[in-house]
Amino acid sequence: MELELSGLVAIVTGGASGIGAAAADRMSSMGAQVAVLDRNPAAADTSHFAVQADVSDDESVRKAIDEVIKEFGRLDIVVNNAGIGAQGTVADNSDEEWQKVFDINVFGMVRVSRAALPYLRQSAVPAIVNTASVAATAGLQNRALYSASKGAVVALTLSMAADHIHEGIRVNCVNPGTADTPWVERLLETAPDPAEERAALESRQPQGRLVKAEEIAAAIAYLVSPSAGSTTGTSLAVDGGMQGLRLRPVA
Ligand code: NAI
Repeated sequence: MELELSGLVAIVTGGASGIGAAAADRMSSMGAQVAVLDRNPAAADTSHFAVQADVSDDESVRKAIDEVIKEFGRLDIVVNNAGIGAQGTVADNSDEEWQKVFDINVFGMVRVSRAALPYLRQSAVPAIVNTASVAATAGLQNRALYSASKGAVVALTLSMAADHIHEGIRVNCVNPGTADTPWVERLLETAPDPAEERAALESRQPQGRLVKAEEIAAAIAYLVSPSAGSTTGTSLAVDGGMQGLRLRPVA
């Protein structure tokens, strides 16, 4: 049976865990051949082609893209998803921390997209999706550095969409709310009372629960698919209403 992504090759950075792993599985179930680029490729599902890559290292990224091309001979879809978190107000993080987070969350997407572009230009249906965050569009406390990095991802997405539209390359991003992934589990483990912290995160979402990685993966899979052929330069919120809704408190 012909599936929507049959014959296409996709890479997912950070595809060994959480949102990236769910996106890799989803695109694979839609017929794509998927390569996971991760600094911990051993954790990737064995059904995918796992490649060691550190998105903060240009040489490592170029080597990984070369490996994908050697394996599959083409590249149609890039999901720039690898990212790390940071906590603190603008007063709290050192220059080194700012550089490290931007190096992965923003420059990582630049390196991967730059290395992938020559191959995307040869595809009939090329697409890039970047994982941003609700932190890009809502003011969250104690997330100055992280939010700034995700704001840069949204701006980069728009600029890339404009630059490459005439090459037929669509560029979009997803803006997840707090999602139930190993990342958030790690965050909860460091809280003085993890159950209370989880409840606080859940109640911050208008929907009253955390977002599922599979729900974000479904949005990514839509945006990379030829069905979304007229969608470029957009941010798709997958956040249980966090960005746009203003609810009255429950009495
Ligand atoms: P996760 O920590 O479960 O997975 C991240 C993956 O990225 C891991 O496999 C890790 O090895 C890989 N990675 C980290 N640094 C890397 C590097 N330098 N090079 C290559 N791979 C690297 O995280 P999760 O929750 O799945 O997050 C994925 C993306 O979604 C991130 O960009 C994050 O900012 C974003 N996001 C997450 C939210 C959440 O609540 N979990 C909410 C909004 C956005």
